[in-house]
Amino acid sequence: MKTGDIEVAAENVVVLNSVNRALPFPVTISNDVKEIITEEIRLRYRFLDLRRPQMQSNLRLRHKVVKLIRRYLEDIHDFVEIETPMLSKSTPEGARDYLVPSRVQPGTFYALPQSPQLFKQMLMVSGFERYYQIARCFRDEDLRADRQPEFTQLDMELAFTPLEDMLRLNEDLMRHIFHEIMGIELPNPFPRITYAEAVSRFGSDRPDLRFDLELKDVSNIFLGCSFKIFSDTIENGGIIKALCVPSGSQFFSNTALKKGDVYAEAIKAGAKGLPFLKVLDNGDLDGVPALASCLRPETKKQLLRLCSAKGGDLLLFAVGHHTTVNQILDRLRLFVAHQMGIIDQTKHSILWVTDFPMFEWNDTEQRFEALHHPFTAPNPDDFNDLTSARALAYDMVYNGVEIGGGSLRIYKREVQEKVLEIVGLSPKQAEEKFGYLLECLDMGAPPHGGIAFGLDRLVMLLSGASSIRDVIAFPKTTTAQCALTKTPSEVDPLQLVELSLSTR
Ligand code: AMO
Repeated sequence: MKTGDIEVAAENVVVLNSVNRALPFPVTISNDVKEIITEEIRLRYRFLDLRRPQMQSNLRLRHKVVKLIRRYLEDIHDFVEIETPMLSKSTPEGARDYLVPSRVQPGTFYALPQSPQLFKQMLMVSGFERYYQIARCFRDEDLRADRQPEFTQLDMELAFTPLEDMLRLNEDLMRHIFHEIMGIELPNPFPRITYAEAVSRFGSDRPDLRFDLELKDVSNIFLGCSFKIFSDTIENGGIIKALCVPSGSQFFSNTALKKGDVYAEAIKAGAKGLPFLKVLDNGDLDGVPALASCLRPETKKQLLRLCSAKGGDLLLFAVGHHTTVNQILDRLRLFVAHQMGIIDQTKHSILWVTDFPMFEWNDTEQRFEALHHPFTAPNPDDFNDLTSARALAYDMVYNGVEIGGGSLRIYKREVQEKVLEIVGLSPKQAEEKFGYLLECLDMGAPPHGGIAFGLDRLVMLLSGASSIRDVIAFPKTTTAQCALTKTPSEVDPLQLVELSLSTR
């Protein structure tokens, strides 16, 4: 044809196969299906759902990202892709394991890998100085929009590479991907923020910096005040932090704050209530009466100064243990920003969060646990007290989502033994669980470190999808099921017998 298209005049048409039953939903090029048909139905008939242009484009974009990664790492930086086992031993990444029973060794189990962590470390001892893998990982944890029980990592490990070089290489990789896929130029270098600063200013170790809204510790201002909840909290070792929402007074009604959606968010994050104050134009405070009246004029001014609050602003407070307080205000910060539409969608906030603590105290189990994983190296400046040491760990955060995380590793047996002891393993337990790693470190392990990116999360963000499920061909539902194959499912009792298992 004139347009260059080719038109074929058929002499003969053979129907290769026909549609023999009504389709569960129309397969059209429009994207309405997503709104009209429930996700459950779409996942049940995923093979049809994947025909939608949006899904086609998401999966093709995923393929393009993987192709870019491979070309970049292999052709420019000499990385080698090496597969590591799926039937393996548990690697602690903080989730429950998926277990696979062994038939030939009755009563024993493999664990599906939560990550290839220890295998990639051992590959460093084998002399593969630049390893990568597009690795499938399995974690039995509570699901969210950006979590799947089965997901894919871009997993990397490098030997003899100092921390700065490690960060630079990964920044270059991300700049390359964002440039090629979205035509976006990410900053060079990426901004960095320490864990302590991120938590103090934003209440989160993955702050979304497309908007300001900072938290302020106002404990000193309420020290000994007549508002009992506040003063008692401080006396009992807790803290009080405030979030100042510019022009929030008008935007959020007293009802929203006392029992509506803002209040509900605070409660969901673990608050027992939501103390708030509205700043009037004359500098007076309005809101929870006992709170508004507990401050002398001078301290009132101090509060406004500290929070940079002016007439029309709203102050939201969280009270209690610092972890809970940060959790509450992190959630409220994101909620009010979304509600008020102050997130600049054209901005791209990418940053490194560094200097994570090595350990955090698990109150329920009454023991220290590794914040990343127990193979992360402590900062050599903090060797004197490992329990409070900072780790040589780094997370990459894009628009408030953790897209990757890694660290330099412990490569000396005695340090590894010490860390395993701190997380509560006796020498015998350490030997039983990680004897093979300790042995390997003893045989001339080089300094090494690495990172893993959540590939699904990265593609979700690059494609603008709202759920990780929209960039995975056959994802699990929010109840960890495959709606298409109806898995997990019961098995033939004979199989259980063969596996020496009983379900009762
Ligand atoms: P981490 O546990 O931080 O580190 O995982 C790395 C990245 O994987 C992604 N991710 C997930 N994506 C989807 N669903 C999940 N359930 C899920 N869990 C994690 C996140 C995260 O940043 N072995 C270390 C890496 C290392 O130290 O090299 C590890 O797995 O984007």
